[in-house]
Amino acid sequence: MNILILGSGGREHTFAWKIAQSPLCEKLFIAPGNAGTALCGMNVPIGVNDFKGIKQFVIENEIEMVVVGPEDPLVMGIHDFFLNDNYLKAIPVIGPKKDGAELEGSKEFAKRFMQKNNIPTAAYESFTIETLKEGLAYLDKQKTPIVLKADGLAAGKGVLICNEINEAKKELAEMLAGAKFGKASTKVVIEEFLEGIELSTFVLTDGINYKILPEAKDYKRIGDGDTGLNTGGMGAVSPVPFANETFKKKVEERIIIPTINGLKNEGIDYKGFIFIGLMNVNGDPFVIEYNVRMGDPETEVVIPKIKNDLVELFQAVGNETLKDITIEIDPRTALTIMLVSGGYPGEYSKGKVITGLDKTEDSLIFHAGTSHSKETDEINTSGGRVIAITSFGNNISEAANQSYKNADLIDYKGKYYRKDIGKDLL
Ligand code: AMP
Ligand code: GLY
Repeated sequence: MNILILGSGGREHTFAWKIAQSPLCEKLFIAPGNAGTALCGMNVPIGVNDFKGIKQFVIENEIEMVVVGPEDPLVMGIHDFFLNDNYLKAIPVIGPKKDGAELEGSKEFAKRFMQKNNIPTAAYESFTIETLKEGLAYLDKQKTPIVLKADGLAAGKGVLICNEINEAKKELAEMLAGAKFGKASTKVVIEEFLEGIELSTFVLTDGINYKILPEAKDYKRIGDGDTGLNTGGMGAVSPVPFANETFKKKVEERIIIPTINGLKNEGIDYKGFIFIGLMNVNGDPFVIEYNVRMGDPETEVVIPKIKNDLVELFQAVGNETLKDITIEIDPRTALTIMLVSGGYPGEYSKGKVITGLDKTEDSLIFHAGTSHSKETDEINTSGGRVIAITSFGNNISEAANQSYKNADLIDYKGKYYRKDIGKDLL
C-alpha cells in the first residue's frame, strides 16, 4: 500500500525508516519531511495543516494509510476531516479524532477526564479572565512551588513553575489578562507541584484494545545536569531502570486501563498513540500530561526497539484487531542524543552545512531540522534540533558511548549537545 506520513522531525524520520522496512509498504511519502525522510521515501511540499492539499495528494497518489506525527493537525481535526469526506473516509488515519485529541489540546479537559476516571494526577483548579480574582485568591492559599499551565497548545512553552506566590500571581494575570500565550491562555490550570522523577509511557490503541510500548525518559533542559531553558527534548533513553515491574503494573492498573476505559465510556473512539507523561512520586505514578502522538525524541528510542512490522501494527489499529498482535521488544538499551543549533531554544541560525554524516558507524542517524540543497548537494541545518543519534547497547553506558562517538564525527557550525544523557540513571 501507499502510505503518507505527516511531519518533518526526528520522530517522522524514525517512522519513515521503520515503515520503509515493511513489505506491506509500496510507496512512502512524507509531507513535508526533511533530508532524512527523503532517504526513506519521497518528500512532498505540503504543510501538515493543509487539509485540502493533503486530500488532493492522497487521492492522486492512491494513499491507503495516513500516519500523523505532530499534534497540531490532530487537534485541528484531520481525522474527522477524512471521516467526513466520501473519498477519504475509508483510509485509516493513525491518530485520534478531535474529541480524543482534546486530551492534549486542552489541559482542563485532560484534568477533568482524569478526575472523572480516578486517574492519579496533581490537584488543580482552572480559571478564566472572568474568575481572575478568584484565581489570585486561590493562589494565596497554595504552597510553592506551584504550577501554571496555559489550557491550549503553546508549543511546549505554556507551563510555568513558580517558586513565589507573588510571581505566580503576576504570571496568572499576564496569562489571562495579558494573553501571554495568546488564545492558549484564555484558560489557565493551576496545579500542585509534584516532586519526583519523570518518565513517559506510550500506548497504541485501536479504541478497544491497547498495547503498551517501551517507556522512555526524556531530557528536556538545554544544559547538562538538567539546567537552563526547556527544549523539545535533548535526548532519551529506553528502558528506564527505575520503571521496574511493580511500578509498571501500577501504571497499567491505575492509569492505562482507566484511560482506555474512560475514553470508551465517553464515546471517544481513539485510534492512535497515547503518550502519558508521568511523575514517579515515591514509587507511585501520577499523570503530568497526555499527548496524543508519539514524543520526540522518545520515538527515536521507542520505535527502533519494536521488532514488529509497524505497518501491520497500524493496520490492526485501523481494523480494531490489535488484540491479535503480540508486541516484540528488543531487550537492549536504546539511547538517543540530539545535536542542536547553537542558541537553541532561543534564537539560532539555519543553513549551516552538515558534514561527517557518512563517517558514522553503528548508530541510527535520524534527521530533525535538516534540508537538502539541490544546488550544492549538501545537507544543511534547518531547525533548532538537527540530528538525533540513536544507539543500542547492553546497558546505558554502552549505548551512550556509541552515540557520543558518532556525535564527534558529525559537524556543523554551532553544533551543541548535552554530554550527560543517561548519566543520571547509572
Ligand atoms: P508539560 O508541558 O505539561 O509537559 O509540562 C512541562 C514540564 O513541566 C513537565 O515535563 C514537568 O517537568 C513540569 N511539570 C508539569 N506539571 C508539573 C507538576 N504538576 N509538578 C511538577 N512538575 C510539573
Ligand atoms: N519530548 C517531549 C514531547 O515530544 O512532547
